[in-house]
Amino acid sequence: MRLLNASGCLDALTAPEVAADLDAFVTKTVTPLPRGGNEPVRIAETEVGMLNAIGLANPGIDGFLHHTLPRLSGLTVWVSVGGFSVRDYADICERLEGEEIAAIELNLSCPNVDEVPSGVGEVVAAARAVTSKPLYAKLAPAADVAESAKAATAAGADGLSLVNTVKGMALDERTGGLSGPALRPLALAAIFAAHQATRLPIVGMGGVASGRDAVELLAAGASDIALGTILFSDPAAPSRIVAELEAELAAHGFADPDNAVGAAHEPEASTLDPESRVGHKKGLHTRANVVG
Ligand SMILES: Cc1cc2nc3c(=O)[nH]c(=O)nc-3n(C[C@H](O)[C@H](O)[C@H](O)COP(=O)(O)O)c2cc1C
Repeated sequence: MRLLNASGCLDALTAPEVAADLDAFVTKTVTPLPRGGNEPVRIAETEVGMLNAIGLANPGIDGFLHHTLPRLSGLTVWVSVGGFSVRDYADICERLEGEEIAAIELNLSCPNVDEVPSGVGEVVAAARAVTSKPLYAKLAPAADVAESAKAATAAGADGLSLVNTVKGMALDERTGGLSGPALRPLALAAIFAAHQATRLPIVGMGGVASGRDAVELLAAGASDIALGTILFSDPAAPSRIVAELEAELAAHGFADPDNAVGAAHEPEASTLDPESRVGHKKGLHTRANVVG
């Protein structure tokens, strides 16, 4: 298992000490041309996470290759790639082919840009045709995530990154991608479904704030874990979460994180957490609504 940051949630140039605590650094999504992003206000807090509408602000592939990437030497770098057409994705992947990067993550699911890229399979196939780098397809927790995961697999993806944010809103008219704790059950369901459908390696993310959260995503089928929103409130989260993860795995009898991958799919698997059951210790008043 590797611990990464979620794209857009860590700037390795301004916080190198946080990046150094990770097994790999994932860049902010890079697009063909520079983008200033949306007008402020671009972030809103909610009780269950945050909304962001950054709008893929980034220096563009030229600026990234000339100014950003050379300053990331010493880190294992994954480049997140975005675009507005199949061609955009393929062009950027082609530009990255000769560079010293560990993997490419195709951002196929940004809720903050209006232009929607083509089908997952089409973009992955076009990228696959021009790159030999490990290729991860990043998807949102949509109802058809298993279908998209299968399309990515058929098109030659080496892995999946699950999940991106989903569109939410805070009044007045602040729409943005919802991330953080609210996303965790959606991430679990998406990872579970994609693991069942494809068995591809999955970088699991979505509201991970503790070792316990990480173990749950592993059990659902993630093989690596990425930290996003938690890094905004707790930059020391990587080492804390690794320590918690080790304790949590030991408590469940797993010698190694890799042994926990997909554990929730075992036929005899019961819930990892009896306390997650409705009404148990949570003070939920279910009697009026639930029979039996
Ligand atoms: C401020 C912010 C910026 C983000 N920018 C990107 C981005 O550029 N590309 C991308 O694929 N995902 C981006 N994301 C989504 C995260 O990578 C991640 O998928 C999502 O936040 C879920 O993880 P979390 O709940 O741990 O934050 C961004 C998220 C936040 C909060």
